[in-house]
Amino acid sequence: MNMLAKISNVVGSQASPANAGLVVTNVSKTFSVTAQSRMEPLQALKNVDLFCPQGSLTALIGPSGCGKSTLLRTIADLETPDSGEITICGESIRKILTRGELGIAFQDPGLLPWRTVRENIALPIQVLKRPVGEASAHINTLISLVGLAGFENALPAQLSGGMRQRVAIARALVTRPSLLLLDEPFGALDQILRRTMNLELQRIWMGDVTTAVLVTHGIDEAVFLADQIAVMHGKPGRITTIINVPFERPRPESLFSAPEFHRLCDEVAQHLHH
Ligand SMILES: Nc1ncnc2c1ncn2[C@@H]1O[C@H](COP(=O)(O)OP(=O)(O)OP(=O)(O)O)[C@@H](O)[C@H]1O
Ligand SMILES: [Mg+2]
Repeated sequence: MNMLAKISNVVGSQASPANAGLVVTNVSKTFSVTAQSRMEPLQALKNVDLFCPQGSLTALIGPSGCGKSTLLRTIADLETPDSGEITICGESIRKILTRGELGIAFQDPGLLPWRTVRENIALPIQVLKRPVGEASAHINTLISLVGLAGFENALPAQLSGGMRQRVAIARALVTRPSLLLLDEPFGALDQILRRTMNLELQRIWMGDVTTAVLVTHGIDEAVFLADQIAVMHGKPGRITTIINVPFERPRPESLFSAPEFHRLCDEVAQHLHH
């Protein structure tokens, strides 16, 4: 079965352990020590349900402080939910982590300053105690994909902010993750590079078809990349709307100027501002 058929089969179908991608059920999270310590405990997530079919890309969009990063961090097991459950194809995130099948890239690239581009990208392989040599060809492909050929031996301090983010994206992909979590990975990129990276991310993701969740403030980025868009609102943090994005893949750059693309962007904007 080709990949597109595979995706259209799972999108819209019911979650079951056999076909389920990421299933977030009734997840709540309260921070008792808040940034403004005088305040009441802060409910960052309240009864969040989200179903991301296997092989689909979900964009998470919402105003600053509504809980997007908290949701992503909770999925990645970097925060412990107060209640609720999160599974990936019926398994816990811990199992996925042990097998090295989680790829994450956050807005702050978090590179090791003493390691070269290549060594930073290879890090997750070493953490899993797998031979880096065997992944060498894949690392080269990723370096080219993110447009860093020629910079393999550069140190992070010698790169621009956007180049560092691209290293972080390559690092997130190096273990061929079954779940990819990206928190505003293109935040520091200029508009032109951002568009190039949107096209690249679609290509990279279609090549490996992992289940992906992308946090973004860009409505056009969400509509271009996602199969579904989850709109969040804050106080308490919750998902208020799910919007399906019907455009066929691969989506061409010309989609950015299509009337139906702008119509869907307007619809997302309306949900965002209500
Ligand atoms: N570790 C923490 N301790 C206390 N409060 C926190 C913590 N992490 C996040 N918060 C609070 O939870 C709320 C949601 O934060 P979060 O970072 O998830 O927002 P966000 O939607 O990602 O925002 P942005 O778009 O600005 O990145 C905010 O009010 C924030 O102050
Ligand atoms: Mg955030």
